[in-house]
Amino acid sequence: MELLSTGKGVFLSLMVSMLLAACNAESDAPSTENSPAASTSQALTVYKQPTCGCCKKWMSHIEEAGIDVTGRHMTSMTAVKDRYQIEPRYQSCHTATSSQGYVFEGHIPARYIKAFLANPPDGAIGLAVPGMPVGSPGMEVENRFTPYQVLLLRNDGGHEVYATIETAAQQ
Ligand code: CU
Ligand code: CU
Repeated sequence: MELLSTGKGVFLSLMVSMLLAACNAESDAPSTENSPAASTSQALTVYKQPTCGCCKKWMSHIEEAGIDVTGRHMTSMTAVKDRYQIEPRYQSCHTATSSQGYVFEGHIPARYIKAFLANPPDGAIGLAVPGMPVGSPGMEVENRFTPYQVLLLRNDGGHEVYATIETAAQQ
């Protein structure tokens, strides 16, 4: 009896680890293959929770703009926000980082990320769109649109307004 139940336990834990391995393989896979082309191409790593649908849609928007994106699934986003110094007032669902070490929080339109990376302002750690404004990239709900701001995050914890988005066409 003892042998039998031990065997069953081993079998079950094997099954569980196989499932986990399959799950991890899928979640860690880059969402796009890195193209060997253009050395000028930009790349972002996107930290998000596995179930986030708007994150996926935002990643598609970024890809369509010609930026490479790699998704990283996290069980806790708190650790990510802490590591990149994203205070609660700046937080959104996902956190992206560039190869240069800049941080891009939330549903920022690709064009502002490109503009920032082309000319990073002194003392800036990145950009943020706090919350999840309806109508921002990845947050499409029919044709609804709520004006919002793209904030420039400074390395002293403060911020400036980087862009004010009044219409969907500005995105
Ligand atoms: Cu979102
Ligand atoms: Cu997101």
